[in-house]
Amino acid sequence: MRRLLGWSSSTVPQSIWRSRPADLHGGGRPDRFATALWGVRTLLGGLASASRWDPSRVSPVRRTHLATIVKRQFVASDVVALTLAHPDGGLLPSWTPGAHIDVHLPSGRRRQYSLCGRPGRRTDYRIAVQRIADGGGGSVEMHEAYDVGDLLVFEGPRNAFCLGTAEQDLLFVIGGIGVTPILPMIQMAHQRGTDWRAVYAGRSRGHMPLLEEVMAVAPERVTVWADDDRGRFPKVDELLGDAGPRTAVYVCGPTPMLEAVCAARARHARAPLHYERFSPPPVVDGAPFEVEFGRSGRVLRIPANRSALDVMRDDDPTTAYSCQQGFCGTCKVKVLAGQVDHRGRAAEGDDEMLVCVSRAKSRRVVIDR
Ligand code: FES
Repeated sequence: MRRLLGWSSSTVPQSIWRSRPADLHGGGRPDRFATALWGVRTLLGGLASASRWDPSRVSPVRRTHLATIVKRQFVASDVVALTLAHPDGGLLPSWTPGAHIDVHLPSGRRRQYSLCGRPGRRTDYRIAVQRIADGGGGSVEMHEAYDVGDLLVFEGPRNAFCLGTAEQDLLFVIGGIGVTPILPMIQMAHQRGTDWRAVYAGRSRGHMPLLEEVMAVAPERVTVWADDDRGRFPKVDELLGDAGPRTAVYVCGPTPMLEAVCAARARHARAPLHYERFSPPPVVDGAPFEVEFGRSGRVLRIPANRSALDVMRDDDPTTAYSCQQGFCGTCKVKVLAGQVDHRGRAAEGDDEMLVCVSRAKSRRVVIDR
């Protein structure tokens, strides 16, 4: 039976109803029920507001989609892959390698997962989720809440980690679950006839999801580094091999791997380097400040080396967040007083703050909480 987990018509995000149902221009086949509902709401809304239109009342539309889970499979001991299809059998929105979707979980959490199916495939998507028992709860919920036949709500796809078209010499550096955005890139690079190599590192082969699919593309181009075979985490020289100043390096993996590769590539001025994190970046040039909750008057002290989001989550584990890198906008709060040092990539108004990355220029920031 198809279940829309935890959602009812009154709890489905309002953006679903604001969004026009999927259409021929990238959204797949329209759903008749959603189309009818959307049409009625649009008509009523139009009649009600026809003479009172005011640009300040228009909120940006975030396009939300539904998908049915058609397959659930473990691809490593702690990684489950979910295959998603349009509920009516139509096409899902188009995407390119490196893209991710934002999943709206039944609990209200939002989490981002890279698409790791065949590049550009629209009849279905695949995502893979590593279970992190002591994380923020999103991955555990993804593992436990969804089964075949359930409906899943998502936004996107979006791509902040694109494969360049002009680069002719590519090196992919993969750490564990970091394989998800990279696998479609490898498949695309191979289709294009681009010269590529890959280094895939992990604790053991059993902890390296989708390794067989990476190897299936061209095994002679892939170096596998399993810690239990070859010793602890490879040195950066082993990761980068003979990558020269013209080699475009794409890296996705744990923070130590990412930092090591970034530092090593910094030796080559302007060497192309593309990376995606799956954990928050370290705080750089941080100074301590205070966050005051305007409604309760409570004050949290943010140390120089931690984000405001981190401290807010200690205080209230239900605090909303997703990327923790300043690009999804989930953690945005309204600022009532104080000056913000804006550090995010998502748009932040003067009176807004992305608490996962932004900091304060003043001693205290008062937020609307
Ligand atoms: S959690 Fe994504 S911008 Fe803060």
